[in-house]
Amino acid sequence: MSARLAASFLWLAALPLLAPSPPPPGAGLTPDERAEALLERMTLEEKIQLLHGALKEYNPGPLGTAGYIPGIPRLGIPDLHFADGSLGVGNQVGQATVLPSCIASAATWNLELAYDYGWVIGHQSRAFGVNVNLGGNVNLASREPRCGRTFELKGEDPLLAGRITAAHVRAIQDQGVIGCVKHFALNDQETGRTTADVRISERGARQSDLLAFEIAIRDSGVQSVMCAYNLVNGIWSCEHPWLLNTVLKGEWGFRGFVMSDWYAAHSSVKAALAGLDQEQPGGYMFGGQWDRSLRDAVRDGSLPEARLNDMARRVLRAMIAVGLLDRGSERPPLDLARSEAIAQRVAEEGTVLLVNQGLLPLDARSLRSIAVIGANADKGVITGGGSAQVIPTGGPALWTPAPCPPCWGGVVWAPSSPLRAIRALAPQADVQFHSGADIRAAAALARRCEVAIVFAAEWQSEGMDLASLSLSGNQDALIHAVIDANPRTVVVLQSGGAQLMPWSAGAEPMLASRRSRPAGLVMPWVHGAAAVLAAWYPGQRGAEAIANILFGVVNPSGRLPLTIPMRIEDLPRAVIDAPPRPDSPDPFPVRYDEGFLVGYKWFDARGIEPLFPFGFGLSYTTFEFSNLGLEWLDARPGQRRLAVSFDLWNTGQRAGAEVAQVYLGLPPETGEPPRRLAGWAKVPLERGQRQRVRVEIREDDASHPFSCWSEARRQWVTPDGPFRIWVGNSAGRSGLKLSAAFRMPGE
Ligand code: BGC
Repeated sequence: MSARLAASFLWLAALPLLAPSPPPPGAGLTPDERAEALLERMTLEEKIQLLHGALKEYNPGPLGTAGYIPGIPRLGIPDLHFADGSLGVGNQVGQATVLPSCIASAATWNLELAYDYGWVIGHQSRAFGVNVNLGGNVNLASREPRCGRTFELKGEDPLLAGRITAAHVRAIQDQGVIGCVKHFALNDQETGRTTADVRISERGARQSDLLAFEIAIRDSGVQSVMCAYNLVNGIWSCEHPWLLNTVLKGEWGFRGFVMSDWYAAHSSVKAALAGLDQEQPGGYMFGGQWDRSLRDAVRDGSLPEARLNDMARRVLRAMIAVGLLDRGSERPPLDLARSEAIAQRVAEEGTVLLVNQGLLPLDARSLRSIAVIGANADKGVITGGGSAQVIPTGGPALWTPAPCPPCWGGVVWAPSSPLRAIRALAPQADVQFHSGADIRAAAALARRCEVAIVFAAEWQSEGMDLASLSLSGNQDALIHAVIDANPRTVVVLQSGGAQLMPWSAGAEPMLASRRSRPAGLVMPWVHGAAAVLAAWYPGQRGAEAIANILFGVVNPSGRLPLTIPMRIEDLPRAVIDAPPRPDSPDPFPVRYDEGFLVGYKWFDARGIEPLFPFGFGLSYTTFEFSNLGLEWLDARPGQRRLAVSFDLWNTGQRAGAEVAQVYLGLPPETGEPPRRLAGWAKVPLERGQRQRVRVEIREDDASHPFSCWSEARRQWVTPDGPFRIWVGNSAGRSGLKLSAAFRMPGE
């Protein structure tokens, strides 16, 4: 019997013979008490062992995960295996279910489904023996829409992003895996990612990215937070006392541990005093000095022993809280059927129908010919790169080299072929594929067919930002040419986030005002695409989901979790701030002068029309909103609760789901943008069904819905004056259906 196994049975020996079934060790104690009891039995060396990864020994762990900390068998403390997993288990520890990107999860606006999404990650982590998940990327998507990690994010709104992330994390932890929220904080671009010095006001930070973290952390009880590579207002995130000690652990009451992003720690004792608990991947930085300097610092008093104990206690507590000390190391078999069903459902509910001029849903019975064009649609669907990359079960359909030097892992296409899925749903039609490499030939195929479905795909990865928001290569020209050849064209876009769509019907005014035709046009431009679907990175069952939407098996109910701009010049930064030289080791400023005006808040405040607003998405049915009612359920200041009620009516011909969104406008003197999302409900309705919907807004919610951050008072303050509420189906002007003014009770 191994020493570890023997140790875990030691407590059994202490039981009297014939005792009833033994209580688990630590039963009746809180995680803190159990952690404390363990801590008392640990040596200084053992405590320090928990505070850094084991890369120092050149041992990335037996599973090949991104991080590894050996356990302490004599105390029953198991090994920790840290693996990435924002959208499926990463680090190539095995073939796992590739979920649709996190942006797609956010586009479902469905928190139960987001929990299921996290279930897949938690369940499969355990199946691989991984017990710390490194997902939970919650920075705001539209702060820098070109960011190469947008596909890992949950959109541009702190409430939506925070709640979706919290649902993922809760499910992961319910599976007995330590969850993570990262990268704390304001880690919004990959250009110069290890030296970017983000400059932002306190209110700007508190009401944007930090708010998303606050919601994600407080709503999930997450047990780890990863600090970021970048600096915030001149201080490295991983040695930032205000971020880590004051805000995260102090104000938000975070009880888990803070780990560094990989190689993001710039000091040992200084970082530990600022709130960093664990250095990753470990022992490599400072020539292996982290543990030695912690030991020396405790001995010479420059690091109080109480703080070192706090660091170790936090790691132990996290392990205990998710059950790592009780569950043993058995691995459940992979439940692929359930995982793939969830992946498909997320793709079906997260795909957003942006344009539909009556072309969709296609009628499988009457169509005789369909052209499928572009983006390797005969083989699979694209997936994102970097540490969030997942190797699909069954292996990649295609694995092409990464188109940029700083990115790694190559471009993986998941084995879910749109061509095959379309053929399966339209067995009577002649469905032909063209790669799109030869635009004229592809257009000729489109012209010969009754309908053309053109696929476009834009790869993203950690380690890069997109040069622009335009589709790369010949894709825009291909789409234009196919539309010109056949007005009955559907564009299916697979992207990490927002892309410019000069060929979408919504962009017609812009195109019409151009003097020259878009490059690559082979026919005079007449109209935009008759239908456009934003499918994001749709995951391992993506093609089946897309086909179900195209043919009306599924009625689309995804809504945009980010604004799609008309032009790059409409963003707060037309060009990404970059270091003076790509290899410069010196910090360089990245100025977020827009503060909390991220995404639709920026567009609204500046009066700029986007191409498609936040929250927007079409359905194959229609909905009507009416009879807005406001009722205070609690009027006591600090605990005020407002019930917003309205009728929602499915007025169309088929069942569908609407995402009813509630926006709040604060009194004008606050300097707030016109609207902020304050709640939503995703409501499935049968044809003709009408339902009273209620969304509650609570003053004590982690999102501070009625408040602004006061820099003078250093706290959240609920202003006096008239508030306004809107209910509708997007943040755009035409999406705001009902509105009413109110004042806070007790003002
Ligand atoms: C990424 C993290 C990731 C870590 C471990 C870093 O490069 O920024 O998000 O969790 O690597 O793979």
